[in-house]
Amino acid sequence: MEISERAKNTQSSPIRKLYPYAEKAEQNGKTVLYVNIGQPDIATPPEAMGMLKNFDKEVLAYSPSTGYYSLRNKISNYFDKYRIDINAEEIAVTTGGSEAVLFSLAAVCDPGDNILVAEPFYANYKSIAQMLGIDIKSITTRIEDGFHFTSKSQIEEKIDERTRAILICNPSNPTGTVYSHNEIEWIVELAKEKDLFIISDEVYREFRYTERDFVSPLHYREVEDRVIVTDSISKRFSSCGARIGFLISKNSDVIEAITKFAMARLSPPSLEQFLAETEFGLSDEYFKDIVNEYRLRKNAFIEELSGTDGVVFPDPEGAFYIIVKFTGVESEDFAKFLLQDFSINDVTVMVAPAKGFYNSKGLGEDEVRVAFVLTSSKMKLAAKILREGYFAYRKMM
Ligand SMILES: Cc1ncc(COP(=O)(O)O)c(C=O)c1O
Repeated sequence: MEISERAKNTQSSPIRKLYPYAEKAEQNGKTVLYVNIGQPDIATPPEAMGMLKNFDKEVLAYSPSTGYYSLRNKISNYFDKYRIDINAEEIAVTTGGSEAVLFSLAAVCDPGDNILVAEPFYANYKSIAQMLGIDIKSITTRIEDGFHFTSKSQIEEKIDERTRAILICNPSNPTGTVYSHNEIEWIVELAKEKDLFIISDEVYREFRYTERDFVSPLHYREVEDRVIVTDSISKRFSSCGARIGFLISKNSDVIEAITKFAMARLSPPSLEQFLAETEFGLSDEYFKDIVNEYRLRKNAFIEELSGTDGVVFPDPEGAFYIIVKFTGVESEDFAKFLLQDFSINDVTVMVAPAKGFYNSKGLGEDEVRVAFVLTSSKMKLAAKILREGYFAYRKMM
């Protein structure tokens, strides 16, 4: 008996692969700073947790397949501050942003179609595309350019007759890039010229450290029927385990298709939708504090690491990740070395080798991704361990 080719071809998560080494390090008495994964240590808002404690319904029932109207209504109000006009019927609640990506790709692509994605990209895009038999065509962006697109033609030249959509992650995991007006405009123009959808993953929308305004493809009325925005409460409200995401489309065919997919899995989590509703009712002060906390962490990390010979990184403009190049290392080997053979006062660090975020073979071999998910002092220590570990690793080479 054989499992499907699709199952065989789907990659496993490059972020989780090194856990056995981290477990070993802990068994050997070391403390591991886990900066490999985007699991924030920030408390889930107490207002939301309080709501869970006081939940008094007798039956934990299914919700409507595209989510409770009251939550969708709250989400539509939240978008007012971004000058994006969406109504509750244009929103579908999903089981995490992950399912929003899955449903979006399934709604616009058939097996054998392809989507364009800037690499390095969030690795699960690839696993989801593989599950659906969709190819990813990558547009390579470079660390020296802050992982920005450099021209419209750089994107255009990748489009072929099977391309159905351009998928962007803005602000980006894993690069921290926030796309400029120009870049979004290139994508909008190409969508019109080449008859494509735009899928815009905006789960890190609030997390920005630049003065530039946030631009979503949804701001361009002329392509509003081509845009699907995917989103989540996981990072925004530090509620990863609640598994609540959503997607937005002003295209009624897309919403109809996604409603059918949503019906096939009956309901997103219901209890957690009440939690999400409380969270979307929080004031903007909540975001100010959280974004400031991430800015401090980012600054603590990059101040400690900057000026190190052979180490290259852009100052991330958003999200809570950074890609760091350690010239000359093989990053998976370096990550294992840190866990197995290196520590300062019995503390070491776990990073994600960045090659798992690239589609093109041979790229990202000397880069790692770090997530700013620990306090500033721990981020500073993580940077110090990486720097000293890099020196030790180089001596061995
Ligand atoms: C860019 C991006 N999109 C989507 C997701 C999925 O989030 P979730 O399924 O937890 O909502 C993540 C999670 O790390 C992410 O970084």
